[in-house]
Amino acid sequence: MTKQLEKLVGWIDDRFPLTSTWKAHLSEYYAPKNFNFWYFFGSLALLVLVIQIVTGIFLVMNYKPDAAIAFASVEYIMRDVPFGWMIRYMHSTGASAFFVVVYLHMMRGLMYGSYRKPRELIWIFGMCIYLALMAEAFMGYLLPWGQMSYWGAQVIVNLFSAVPFIGEELSLWIRGDFVISDATLNRFFAFHVIAVPLVLLGLVVAHLVALHEVGSNNPDGVEIKKHKDPVTHIPLDGIPFHPYYTVKDIAGVVVFLMVFSAIVFFAPSMGGYFLEDNNFIPADPLKTPLHIAPVWYFTPFYAILRAVPPMFGSQFPGVIAMGVAVVVLFFLPWLDRGRVKSIRYRGVIYKVWLTLFIISFVGLGWLGIQPATPLYTLLARILTGVYFAFFFLMPWYTKIDKTKPEPERVTG
Ligand code: HEM
Repeated sequence: MTKQLEKLVGWIDDRFPLTSTWKAHLSEYYAPKNFNFWYFFGSLALLVLVIQIVTGIFLVMNYKPDAAIAFASVEYIMRDVPFGWMIRYMHSTGASAFFVVVYLHMMRGLMYGSYRKPRELIWIFGMCIYLALMAEAFMGYLLPWGQMSYWGAQVIVNLFSAVPFIGEELSLWIRGDFVISDATLNRFFAFHVIAVPLVLLGLVVAHLVALHEVGSNNPDGVEIKKHKDPVTHIPLDGIPFHPYYTVKDIAGVVVFLMVFSAIVFFAPSMGGYFLEDNNFIPADPLKTPLHIAPVWYFTPFYAILRAVPPMFGSQFPGVIAMGVAVVVLFFLPWLDRGRVKSIRYRGVIYKVWLTLFIISFVGLGWLGIQPATPLYTLLARILTGVYFAFFFLMPWYTKIDKTKPEPERVTG
């Protein structure tokens, strides 16, 4: 560092904890030395968050939250605003990328038991992020005011009418009208561009503060803080986050951006999975599309909703099942009674259940896009059973599972 720069940093340090923060969270933050592929997705989620905020700001400069002109304003962005098409496709691809990255990030948590003591709060903040992300994506999808925006929102908000006694009032309150309308568009816009992003940012900060308080888990699921150098008190299996993991994460970012750009430039609608075909048609409250399906990241829960039969003509049981399917994830730290954290040392029972869970989640995701034929409905019911069994039987099967002895120190 040049003398002047050193002086400047010193001046700042006297007034603001710059160097100490850098040290505490980067250059002297010791992370386990055995992070693998699955540890890329936290930093990638941060990257996607930044992409969404930056592209979102540019979209708002030309988007009009008015039911009469919203669709046309998006077309204007696509055709007339310089690079508007790119900003818009980055934002729409970013929405799906967010869920890809976050689902893989959560999957890592399941594999290595990252939600277990002492990381329960990291997980709970993560789940709150996941809920906020779902709300953010749902409300954002209404904004282009296409057929799917309109009818997707109509179907989902109507679900609230299934709540006994207060249902009708509740859905009316959410919409601000008897159907999805300009009032709904305006409030969803307000939530999408400012309220939910603020909550998301706050939650991400809390997520990382909790992470740095206890330290990262790792693929072996053993605590590196148990074995510290007697003199320096640095964990023996820890390496400084910067430069080791900053550099590793950059490699992940490069690969991610290659895939991301390929989609933005060559397949932005991803065959109807990222942007549905019907959403290129302006919303028409008088014409219901033949086939209404949510975007892929919601379809596992949509399939659960449809799989549960109505009771007394009410969809309420399905709505409850869908809600429980998400909420049950919050309780994972207390449902898991296994003696070890990482899948590496679990027995065959846990491995079979985790595989069944993945099959059920992906299978339900696929079924959620298909028409509800009798065969598909039967399949969805079976997979819904497997999905819930994974969680509700967990205290039992993790306890009887024959685990292998955990190593004292991280391996490899
Ligand atoms: C905007 C979304 C999110 C961002 C930006 C984010 C960011 C991060 C980062 C940077 C890390 C540390 C690096 C890593 O372990 O990969 C991390 C760790 C973690 N995250 Fe997230 N996260 C998000 C969503 C979630 C969600 C939805 C969950 C689960 C419900 C979750 C659960 C965890 C857990 C358990 C850890 C600790 C992992 C370990 O130490 O093995 N995160 N997160």
